[in-house]
Amino acid sequence: MKTEHAPTIHRADYRPLPWTVERIDLHFNLDPTATVVTSRLNCVRNPEVEAGPLRLWGDTLECLLLTVDGAEPAAAALRELEDGLEVDLAGERAVVEIHTRIDPQANTTLSGLYLSNGGFFTQCEAEGFRRITYFPDRPDVMARYTVTLEADRERCPVLLSNGNLLEQGELPGGRHYARWEDPFPKPSYLFALVAARLVVLERKAQTASGREVLLQVWVEEGNLDRAGHAMDSLIHSMRWDERTFGLELDLDRFMIVAVADFNMGAMENKGLNIFNTKYVLAKPDTATDVDYEHIESVVAHEYFHNWTGNRVTCRDWFQLTLKEGLTVFRDQQFSADMLAEAAGEEDAASARAVKRIDDVRVLRAAQFPEDAGPMAHPIRPDSYQEINNFYTATVYEKGAEVIRMLHTLLGTEGFRNGMDLYFSYHDGKAVTCDDFVDAMAEANGRDLDQFMRWYAQAGTPRLGARGEWNAADGSYTLRLTQHTPPTPGQAEKLPLVIPVAVGLIAPDGSDLPLQLEGESQPGASTRVLELKTAEQRFRFVGLSAEPVPSLLRGFSAPVLLELEEDDERLAFRMAKDSDPCNRWDAAQRYAERVILALAADLGQGRAAAVPEAFIRAFRSLATDEALDPAFRAQAAALPAEGYLLERMSPADPAALRAALRLLYATLGERLAADWLALCERLPVAGEYRYHPADAGRRALLNLALRYLAAAGNEAGLALARQRFGAAGNMTDRFGALAALVQSASPAREDALAAFHARYKDDALVLDKWFSLQAGAWRWQDDAPGTLLRVKALLDDAAFSLSNPNKVYSLLGTFFRANPAEFHAADGSGHVFWADMVIALDARNPQVAARMARALENWRRYTPALQASIRPQLERVLATKGLSPDVSEVIGKALQ
Ligand code: PHE
Ligand code: ZN
Repeated sequence: MKTEHAPTIHRADYRPLPWTVERIDLHFNLDPTATVVTSRLNCVRNPEVEAGPLRLWGDTLECLLLTVDGAEPAAAALRELEDGLEVDLAGERAVVEIHTRIDPQANTTLSGLYLSNGGFFTQCEAEGFRRITYFPDRPDVMARYTVTLEADRERCPVLLSNGNLLEQGELPGGRHYARWEDPFPKPSYLFALVAARLVVLERKAQTASGREVLLQVWVEEGNLDRAGHAMDSLIHSMRWDERTFGLELDLDRFMIVAVADFNMGAMENKGLNIFNTKYVLAKPDTATDVDYEHIESVVAHEYFHNWTGNRVTCRDWFQLTLKEGLTVFRDQQFSADMLAEAAGEEDAASARAVKRIDDVRVLRAAQFPEDAGPMAHPIRPDSYQEINNFYTATVYEKGAEVIRMLHTLLGTEGFRNGMDLYFSYHDGKAVTCDDFVDAMAEANGRDLDQFMRWYAQAGTPRLGARGEWNAADGSYTLRLTQHTPPTPGQAEKLPLVIPVAVGLIAPDGSDLPLQLEGESQPGASTRVLELKTAEQRFRFVGLSAEPVPSLLRGFSAPVLLELEEDDERLAFRMAKDSDPCNRWDAAQRYAERVILALAADLGQGRAAAVPEAFIRAFRSLATDEALDPAFRAQAAALPAEGYLLERMSPADPAALRAALRLLYATLGERLAADWLALCERLPVAGEYRYHPADAGRRALLNLALRYLAAAGNEAGLALARQRFGAAGNMTDRFGALAALVQSASPAREDALAAFHARYKDDALVLDKWFSLQAGAWRWQDDAPGTLLRVKALLDDAAFSLSNPNKVYSLLGTFFRANPAEFHAADGSGHVFWADMVIALDARNPQVAARMARALENWRRYTPALQASIRPQLERVLATKGLSPDVSEVIGKALQ
C-alpha cells in the first residue's frame, strides 16, 4: 500500500501540548499577492505536561522573522519540521513573534486566506490557520485574539474579524485599518477575517436577559434584497436557543458574511459566520422553497454552534461529532419546531413528521452507503489520513441520530438537564464525546457505558423483528434481534443500545394500548423498547386480535429494519399506521420491493409490469385529501436512487434506471386524472411567501407534473409549459422546468434556453440550470447520453472548475445523482471522472476528494462496471503530486 502521500493519524496518540497560547495579537497587511502577517503569541507552559518545545504548524508559509522574547533564537533552538516548526522555550512564559508572507491570490484551495471576487476571506476549519501563520493549530489551544486588518480602502471598504470592533481609521496611501478583539478564548479554527466590498443588512435585537445586540448580514452590492430571510432565520434561531436550552448570544455583535467561493455550506467562526452564498441569498424569483428551508436550517446550525462548538469545543478532531452531531440534532429540532409552529396545533404532528422524513431520506441516501463502503467509520473515528475527508454524513447525520437516541432515552427534560450540566462543567474548554455522554449520564443517574458503543462502532446495525401471536391467551411476543455487519478494520461488533419505538395496530387500523407482561395495566399506544442484547423478547398481553406491528416509529434509531412483511401488510400500514413516518416508510418499502423486482426482470431482458396492488396503495395515499400536501409529496416521492443501488446486489444502475422509468411512466399514466385534478386544486393564490403550508402544495403539484411529464401526458406537458412561462416564483418555475427536463418532450430544450436567458447573470440560479442538465435521464434509448451535455457545459462561460458550487452542481450531480448515465456501459463516464478528479485536485483537494468519493463503492457494481472503473481509480492514484485528500479516498477504495 502506498502511504507516501498521507501518514495515518490515530486517536489513541492524542497528547496535550507542552506549550499553549494564552493571547495572540495578529496584524494583517492585506495584499492580493503578498500579504504580511505579524503574529505575537503569549505562550504559557502547560504544567501538567512533561517539558518540551513549542510546536508550531505551518503550511505554504514564507517565514520572514521569528523571535523569542524579542531576540532571534539560537540555531539549535529552532527546528524545521515537515509540517512546521519546533522552538525551545525556557521558563514558564515566552513571547514569540512571527512574521510570514502569504499569497492569497495563488491560494485556490479555499482553505486559509484567499480571494473571492476581489475580496479577502478566510476558512480555518479544520487546519487552515496554519496556512496563514505558524501556530499550535489544534483545537485544544484556546487563545484570546486581537486582530488588526490593514487594506486598500477602495478594494476593501469593509474590514471584519471576530468579536468587537475596537477602532478603525485612515492610513496613508489610500489604505485604512480596523482593530477587533474577541473577548472569548477560542481555538484557531474559529478565527476569521473578511476584507471586501460589501453592503449590510442590519437589525438590533434584545437577548432574553435584555442585552442589545447588533445582527448583520453582509452581502455583495445588489444582493441586499436577498438577505432578509437569513436575517429572519437568525432571529428565530436566537429565540429558539433561548427558549429551548436557555442559551443566549454572548456577543454584542453577530455577523454573517456571504461569499461565492466556499468549499462547504457555512462556517461558525466566533461572531463572524462565513457562508456560502447558496445558504444566505434568497428572494422569491431566485430561490425555491427548499432553498428557503436550507437557509433557515444552516443559519440556525451555525448560530447554534456558538454554544455547541465554540463555547465548548473539541479537544481534537476525532471528537468532531461532539459539535457536529449535536448541532445537527439541534438544527433538526429547530426546523421541526418552526414547521410545527407554522402549521398550527392540529397539523403540528404531520409537519414534524415531514421534517423527520427529510432527515431520514438524507441518512439513507448518504450515510448508509458510506457505512457500507471502504470509508466506513464510527461517528468518532479512530484514525484518518486527512481530516477534511471526515466531514461526513456519518459524523454529521449519524452523529445527530446518536444524540437523538439520547434524547429519546432520557426524555426532553432529562436531555435538557444533561445539556445544562455539560455547560456547567465544560464552558470555555476543549473536551471529548465522553465528557458529553458523561454529563448526560450523571444528570440522569443513568449508566450510558454501553451506549458509548455507538461512538465506537461503524456500520449500519440490522434490526431483526419477528412477531408471534398467541390467540389462546391474547398475547403477542415480539422477538427483536440486532447485528452489525463487519466494516474495514472492525470485524466483530458488540450489541448496541437500540431504542425501538413500537406500536401495535388493530385490524381496524386503530392503535392498541400496550401492556407488557408483568404490568398491571395498559399504557400509551407507542412506547420505546430498549434492545440491549443480541436478542430480546417482549411479550404484550391483553390483546383481542392479532396486531400488526409498527416498529421504529419516528425512525427511533439509525438502523436497517429487517422485518418480513408481505405486500398486503405494507399496503395496510401505508393506509393505517398512525405514525406518519412509518406510513411513509411502508410506502418506501413497498416501492423499493416493486422497483427492485422490476429492475431484476428488466435487467434479465424479461417483460415487466408494475403490480396493480402497488398502484392502488400508492394512489390512495397520494390522493388522500385528509392528508397534508407536504406529507403526500413525501409519500409519493420514490426512494432515492443512491439508496436503491445500495439495496441491489450487484448494483446495476442501467437496470435500476429502466425500472424507475417504467414506474414513473406507469404512475404518470395510470394516475393521470388524479395528477391533473391535483394540479387544478393545489395552486397557491396570491404573492409568494415562504410558508410550509404553501410549500407543501407547491411540492405536491410539482411532483404531479413530474409524473405526468414522465408519462408523456399531453395535458400535463402543456400545463408544465404554461406554468413555466407564467410562474411568479422560482419554486413554480423550477418545478415546471424540472418536469419538462425529466421527460422525452422536445419542449425541454426551449425551456432550458428561456431559463438561461432570464437568469444568465445570476450565479446561484445558474447552478440549478447546470444541475438539472447533469441530472437529466434519457427517456429514449437512442437519445445522446448526458455525459455529452455535461462535457459541453464545462465550456459554458458561466462554468468554472474553481468555484465549488459550480463543480457540485454540474459534476457532483452527474457523478452522484445520475448513476445510469455516469456508469454508461462504454465506460466513458469513468474516464471523464478520473480526468475531472485529477484536474480538480491540482486546484482544490477538498473539492476533488468529494468528487473522488463518488466511486468509493465501486465493488458493489456489476463485474463489467468494476472492470471499467478499476483502471480509472488506479490512474488517479498514480497521479504525481496527488493530495492526501484524494489519495486517502482512492487508497481505501482500492484496498
Ligand atoms: N463546521 C462547519 C459546519 O458544520 C462546516 C465546515 C467544515 C466548514 C470545514 C468549512 C470547513 O457548520
Ligand atoms: Zn456544523
